[in-house]
Amino acid sequence: MKNNRVTSLFGIKYPIISGGMVWCSGWRLASAVSNAGGLGLIGAGSMHPEVLREHIQKCKAATDKPFGVNVPLMYPEIDTIMDIIVGEGVKIVFTSAGNPKTWTKKLQDHGIIVAHVVSSSKFALKCEEAGVNAVVAEGFEAGGHNGREETSTMVLIPQVRKSLSIPLIAAGGIGTGDGMLAAFALGAEGIQMGSRFALTQESSASKEFKELCIGLKEGDTMLSLKKLSPTRMIKNDFYNAVQTMEDRGASADEIRELLGRGRSKKGIFEGDLSNGELEIGQISSLIDDLPSAAKVVEDVIAEYNSKIDKLITADSKF
Ligand SMILES: Cc1cc2nc3c(=O)[nH]c(=O)nc-3n(C[C@H](O)[C@H](O)[C@H](O)COP(=O)(O)O)c2cc1C
Repeated sequence: MKNNRVTSLFGIKYPIISGGMVWCSGWRLASAVSNAGGLGLIGAGSMHPEVLREHIQKCKAATDKPFGVNVPLMYPEIDTIMDIIVGEGVKIVFTSAGNPKTWTKKLQDHGIIVAHVVSSSKFALKCEEAGVNAVVAEGFEAGGHNGREETSTMVLIPQVRKSLSIPLIAAGGIGTGDGMLAAFALGAEGIQMGSRFALTQESSASKEFKELCIGLKEGDTMLSLKKLSPTRMIKNDFYNAVQTMEDRGASADEIRELLGRGRSKKGIFEGDLSNGELEIGQISSLIDDLPSAAKVVEDVIAEYNSKIDKLITADSKF
């Protein structure tokens, strides 16, 4: 595959995107992925506006390739964030956690390409109606915040593909070339990986978090905080405290109080493995190393290419 709609849309070599991730994806990771031929995203979700500006400027200095910014739309200082993005000349924005109608047109009027992240085919169609340039459909294997319907990537991608005509990027549970090939077989034209890139040299997550994640086994992450915003995280003391409260029927307000502020920073960035909220996806059970981001891109493409060759031999047909 030389080019497809995703590589053409973003002007990149490989249809591999590193998802915006709180406390993981700063300019180092974004520029490393872009320099390797993918599309690196800076995760604005954990940045004060001026910190984001600094990351954008450093990313521009570190790569001459396309890169983008991920903006969760429930961000409190959203207007300031968008002004900075426009002012700094960012060309690609991936929005998430909100209504794509609110910002898509405004950003596109400044020549920005907009993709939006969804977890259902209903919202994928709303994205198309809102005029977004591409959709990221994310199954609930994914690390971090997830859809309430708990639809897996295997089911979500073909569902979305049936009705969507714009480029479709699959996310959730993909960390290898095999995974990429499976996503393409289901109708995706690009992949967004979060957990795999969170566990690289350039990710700004703490050493403690990364080392814990590469030792995880099947079943070590679960969806939690279902009364607030369902989030996939590692089963640790914080997770157990939430479960205990949920089991005794605690209200959303009580759980919000337990969550407090800064839990994901405490866990992912500061390495408090007991009290922090440790967001990572199911695919972590297949990850046991901390390579550079460039090596991840290279390995995923090499595996994709070698597996596709094996699949298309005549005797692989029934
Ligand atoms: C630590 C972590 C933080 C994340 N933060 C965000 C975020 O701020 N905004 C967002 O849209 N998605 C966020 N995500 C989701 C990723 O961008 C990506 O879509 C997801 O990780 C893909 O699934 P995977 O983890 O199975 O690769 C986060 C994921 C992780 C693991």
